[in-house]
Amino acid sequence: NKDQKFKGKKVLITAGPTYEAIDPVRFIGNHSSGKMGYAIASAFKNAGAEVTLITGPTNIDKPIGLANIIEVTSAEEMHAAADKYFSKTDIAVLSAAVADYKAATQATEKIKKTDDSNEMMLKLVKTPDIAKSLGAKKKAHQQIIGFALETENEESNAKKKLQNKNFDLIVLNSLRNEKSAFGYDTNQVKIFDKNGLKYESALLPKSEIAQIILEQITQE
Ligand code: C5P
Repeated sequence: NKDQKFKGKKVLITAGPTYEAIDPVRFIGNHSSGKMGYAIASAFKNAGAEVTLITGPTNIDKPIGLANIIEVTSAEEMHAAADKYFSKTDIAVLSAAVADYKAATQATEKIKKTDDSNEMMLKLVKTPDIAKSLGAKKKAHQQIIGFALETENEESNAKKKLQNKNFDLIVLNSLRNEKSAFGYDTNQVKIFDKNGLKYESALLPKSEIAQIILEQITQE
């Protein structure tokens, strides 16, 4: 049955942004809405998969009928959750926009504005690269689908990322179209595997992009 292509498959999805705390009231974050990841989660569920969704903070409704939704805030929490489930995962789709850096230290009290200087320094350190660490552990029966959002040299960067992170597919979000990617209900993507460009989509609702991504996942 074509409609149950992923019946019994265990699918892990990361979605949304991460927030990295600076002090009790401030954070470093990004504009990811979580819409693409949630659409992929719904599509897999409808195709018969057992879906675990690990999501950063979003303002959208959770996909209906998912038994296992894990809400996290920071990259470190997302990493811990993803790591916990990955060994039992058949297909991981890493659509989260994970912050690359976090504050080196988190102030326990709100940082006060000072009168004596116009400058304020915030030291940042790298967060864990979840995709890279899962990619390094990937077994032969597992597949990882990653995302890329580039503003320059998009195709060559996407291909490098596929290799570096040991992805099976990478979905390149186009920023060329003004209604694509962050926050919008529509997206336009190019999908690459190790042999190069596999699929180029039109500007479509994220639900249809999710369907296309599922179609591009080959199974033995
Ligand atoms: O390196 P870059 O952030 O562009 O890579 C994007 C891909 O890697 C996405 O699939 C994203 O979810 C994943 N990623 C991750 N953990 C990070 C950074 C990126 O899982 N710390």
